Amino acid sequence: MDKSISGFSKLLKSEKIDWLMQHYLSNSKSAKRTITQYWNTDKKLQQLHDEFIENTITNYYLPLGVAPNFLINNKLYAIPMAIEESSVVAAASKAAKFWLSRGGFKTEVISTTKIGQVHFSYNGAAEDLKIYFKTIKSKFFEDAKPLTKNMEKRGGGILDIELRDKTEAIDGYYQLHATFETLDAMGANFINSCLEQFAKTLKREAENALEGNLTIIMSILSNYVPDCIVRAEVSCKVDQLVESNSNAEEFAKKFIQAVAIAEVEPYRAVTHNKGIMNGIDAVVLATGNDFRAVEAGIHAYASKDGRYSSLTHASIENGVFKFWIEIPLALGTVGGLTKLHPLVSLALDLLGKPNSKELMQIVAVAGLAQNFAALKSLTTTGIQEGHMKMHLMNILNQFNASENEKKQIISHFKTHIVTHSAVVEKLETLRVVSN
Ligand code: HMG
Repeated sequence: MDKSISGFSKLLKSEKIDWLMQHYLSNSKSAKRTITQYWNTDKKLQQLHDEFIENTITNYYLPLGVAPNFLINNKLYAIPMAIEESSVVAAASKAAKFWLSRGGFKTEVISTTKIGQVHFSYNGAAEDLKIYFKTIKSKFFEDAKPLTKNMEKRGGGILDIELRDKTEAIDGYYQLHATFETLDAMGANFINSCLEQFAKTLKREAENALEGNLTIIMSILSNYVPDCIVRAEVSCKVDQLVESNSNAEEFAKKFIQAVAIAEVEPYRAVTHNKGIMNGIDAVVLATGNDFRAVEAGIHAYASKDGRYSSLTHASIENGVFKFWIEIPLALGTVGGLTKLHPLVSLALDLLGKPNSKELMQIVAVAGLAQNFAALKSLTTTGIQEGHMKMHLMNILNQFNASENEKKQIISHFKTHIVTHSAVVEKLETLRVVSN
């Protein structure tokens, strides 16, 4: 059977599903049921979701959880998190509660500059191009005025445009490297529109002024934003670090060693940072931001010194334990899905309608809290104890446990270590007894 198709995009949603049923899903009734059971009964809401992307057949749910008790710069937040992995929300909540009684999180936005580039080639003399750029630089700003005037009214816009000679890397390769302030917008559309205008201006003016051949290759923003940086930090006296009678100093030292290992060992750094991204991605997703852009930018930043390294750092000085994160984050609280997706709107309301700077701080805190919880578990009980405790419900659902079975098993594992096999064994025992 030919499984390719031309014109799929033009079919109705029902026709797309029928085609998939025939060609890929063996006309299985359960597949059709799965697809349709996730449709929203509110037709307008369903249409909104259908139109977010292309070729939509159904909705893909993720749970939206909330981690309360985050004290950030003396203000309390309940942070919304959209994520599929168990124990992440619990870990964030636990870290928030821990730091609530130790002064909370302190944060600071260090910079907010975003970047975009027009990549082009030129086969004439570099010196001519440099002189030419200087003479037409003001035209870039003038020609982009219709695009920038509203952003300028709000206090943002184009900050600067530089000509960069990259011919050492690739023969004839140059860039217009532009910097922008986009305020509460993530800025992708604004930046890309400006860049495409710069490219037109560059090409138009070059025709008469330059001897060599100038070819525009592409114009696009960069998701690497090392000048759009936020910092979050927690600190307390070392002896306040543990709750019970365990040894605070020993815990602090081990914690610092765990961070130091992630600073020098890329295999560990990747997992360490993955734990940080558990928190960051979940808030970025819940607030309708582009988590792929955030991921790409943050991982590039983790490699900025030539080796992939930890995004968090820790120290003990004069008996004070300090733990902090510094990351690049380009986020928006206007535009995109922020007004369009009802749950994004709700998530932003829950956070008190933050502006983009506030959201940067909240997201950085979520990453730091997540890392604190993971490292606390890793260096004390090990990760499995807490993670599996939270994962228990997934195992029970996998084996279709009844409500009664769930109740008995959850009670049993309050005093026993959760492992996949121990849960299955307990379930089998219960089922044998009840038969
Ligand atoms: P615990 O001490 O067993 O929890 O920790 P507890 O039952 O004593 O409760 C203490 C608090 O934890 C609660 O306070 C909640 O804040 C939170 P309360 O609400 O009672 O006032 N909490 C919960 N919140 C919501 N729902 C729950 C819940 N249970 C506790 N059901 C916990 C259990 C899982 C929190 C702890 O073991 C932990 O933080 N573990 C770390 C888990 C983690 O990092 N998970 C991420 C997945 S693993 C991974 O991907 C990353 C990793 O590889 C990264 C790395 O290597 O660095 C680890």
